[in-house]
Parts: sequence; C-alpha cells; structure tokens
Amino acid sequence: MTLQEDAPAASGEEGFALFLEEFRARLGGAPGERCFFSPGRVNLMGAHLDYNGGPVLPSAIDRGTFLAARPRADRRLRLASTLEERAIELELDDLPETPAGTWSDYPLGVVRALLRVDSSRAQDGLDLFCGGNLPIGAGLSSSASVCVGTARALDAVWGLGLGALDLVEAALWAEREFVGVRCGIMDPYAVGLARPGHALWVDCKDRSTEHLPLDADRVCIAVADTGVRRELAQGDFNRRVGECRAAFEFLGPHVPGATCLRDVPLACLEEHAGALQVDRGADVLRRARHVLEEVERTLRAREALLAGDLAGFGEQMFAAHESLRTLFEVSVPELDCLVDAARDQPGVYGARLTGAGFGGCTVTLLSPEAAGDFARALTDAYRARFGRAPTVEFYRGGGGPYEVG
Ligand code: GLA
Repeated sequence: MTLQEDAPAASGEEGFALFLEEFRARLGGAPGERCFFSPGRVNLMGAHLDYNGGPVLPSAIDRGTFLAARPRADRRLRLASTLEERAIELELDDLPETPAGTWSDYPLGVVRALLRVDSSRAQDGLDLFCGGNLPIGAGLSSSASVCVGTARALDAVWGLGLGALDLVEAALWAEREFVGVRCGIMDPYAVGLARPGHALWVDCKDRSTEHLPLDADRVCIAVADTGVRRELAQGDFNRRVGECRAAFEFLGPHVPGATCLRDVPLACLEEHAGALQVDRGADVLRRARHVLEEVERTLRAREALLAGDLAGFGEQMFAAHESLRTLFEVSVPELDCLVDAARDQPGVYGARLTGAGFGGCTVTLLSPEAAGDFARALTDAYRARFGRAPTVEFYRGGGGPYEVG
C-alpha cells in the first residue's frame, strides 16, 4: 500500500507544507496539530531471510510517510489519507475488531495495538492524516512506514512514553494480527530503529540489532522502479513462506536444537538434498538452497561493510539477485534488466531486487559521482528492451521516525 500516487519528487519542507494544507482542508483547522515523518526502507542483504530466522541488512531511506495528528475534545477517532477521499470516523471506545480491507486498517491496527492493554491510555480522541512520497507497492515498505509512523504520532499526542521497540511491536501487531499479513519482522525494525549514516543489522532469530556504518559521502542508494506490480504478489509471498516452512519441517529433525531454517547448515542441506526433493519437491529444495546460501552471503557482506570494502559488499548483492532469480524465483525480466544494466556501469558497487520481488524496484549502491551517467544508462537499457522508462531515484540513508518542526 502507499499513500500518495503522484509522489512529489522532493520530500522535506515543500512536500510537508502541501501536505499540511491538505490536512487542514480535509479535517479542518484546529489547534494542537503535530507533524511526523516515518521512513521507507530498502533491503540491502538478507533476502527472504527474516521469516527464516536469518540475518538481514536493510537501510531506511529519506522518503516515507508524512503524518499529521491532533487531539480532539471528544473520544472520536478520525483517520484520513491523501489516497482516499473519505475520512473514517470511529469511537475510541468501540473500535472494530476486524479489518475493513482499506488503507485505514493499518493505522487503526496500530491504535488497537496501543490500546489493547489499557484503553484509558488514550485520554483524547484524535484526528490523523497520512500522506507521503513512497511509490505504490514497490517494495519500499510503505505499510511498515505508516504503522511505525502512526505509533510514533500516537505516542507523542497521547504522551505514552514508548521506546523505539514498543513502536516496532505495535506496528508488527497491527500488520500481523489486525490486518492479517504474514510479514516478517524486517520492515518495522528497519523503519523504527534506523539511524542516519548506518544500515541496520537485525538477527531475526534472537532479534538482536546493530548499526553498521554506511557512509553517505561514499555511497548513494539508487532505487529503480520497474513500474511492474503483480496483483497476486501477496499470494506468491505466502507460498514462499510455506515452501520455506516445508523445507524446515523436513530438514529440522536432522539438526538438534534447530528452531528455524537458518539453523540448518548448508552441508546438511547438501546431504539430504535428494531426499528433500523427492519428499517435498524441487521447488522446496531450491528455496532452501537460496535461504542457506543467502545467510552465508549476508555474513560475508557484513564483513565487507565493516572493512569498508564496498566492492566486496556489492558482489554479494549481485550474487543475491542471481539466487533470487534462479533459486527463489521471485524476480521478473524487468528487474533482471535493471540489475544487468547496473552491473555494466562505472561507480556501481552492487544491485539487486529489493523487497519481496515479483516486480517493484531494484536497489543499487553506487558512488555519488556516478549517479547522472547511471540514471541515463539504466533508462536507455530499459527503454530499449521494454519501450518505456523506469523511474530512477537517488535516496540518502535515513533515520527512524521523528517529529517535524
Ligand atoms: C517483504 C516482507 C519482508 C521480507 C521481504 C523479503 O518485503 O515484508 O518481511 O520478507 O519481503 O526479504
């Protein structure tokens, strides 16, 4: 999901001023409004590892969700966004137990998450308005951005005194338990715990985190959007989750103490590959091989990043994409074209699809001086093959959600 179809090119002040005007036009001007920004994210390494207990290495970006919030004198909750014309109006003491199938399920899920324990935590009703500048369904985590941002706004307006991990937990509960998406933990962690100038290492088994330096003067993040959106992507994603589970059900019993697929050594997979293929099928074998090799790649990428070896890091990104294409089978020709074009460009360290795949965007790490030529080369290669231009944008790594102004 996203909250703004024609995303303005600029985030920051100009975008926010327009957004605030719209908030007042839609929900009326009244005192007490406060504004917040919550980032999107790119995933640099650790593709499809979060729900397998593996390590991931995402970075927040300086595009994301804008939120305006204001307390009300009554116990009403009004939720509105730039995406839909109608505001949703609810009573805080009588919130729906089930999702309605619209965007407002995400912020509503967060409200429910925060009031689950004690509804008197919300002394006042609330007007909440969301917008932003992340592209639609492109794999940049707009839903986690909305959820973590909503939690940040509610925390401030209701004076709840929550920590960053509480915001992440509220966002996770909203997406998993209320909206009902089988998402992993990477996205809300990436959004909620981000620190400028760093990528976030998350070990999704024990949930430990570490900020690894990603120097914005040496590296810029290019996101190239294929414009391809696959309607059935959620079903495909859930199927991959199921296939990985099937691999673990078969392999886990061979590894004492294993609690997730990540715990299975690659050598164990090789030993039982034939039997796994017979028992669960060739697809499940390929998925397991991707996961276990991606764990190794992600560990190597971490070492490269810590050693300041961006070329070494990038090599792992290219290898990850190849594995996503051939073993995990979540790429599409449009994504492959953009990764191949990136590989040929001077100043490029690495590129791969970001997010779940099945369309969406590639992420490329490159030297900032190479950006202009890179965008032209990618656009030419893509147009020559598909007859239309991709959207190529350059982002800076960013921090977690914050109050604006
Ligand atoms: C989607 C999910 C994440 C993660 C990625 C694949 O973006 O929301 O939790 O599984 O796919 O790495």
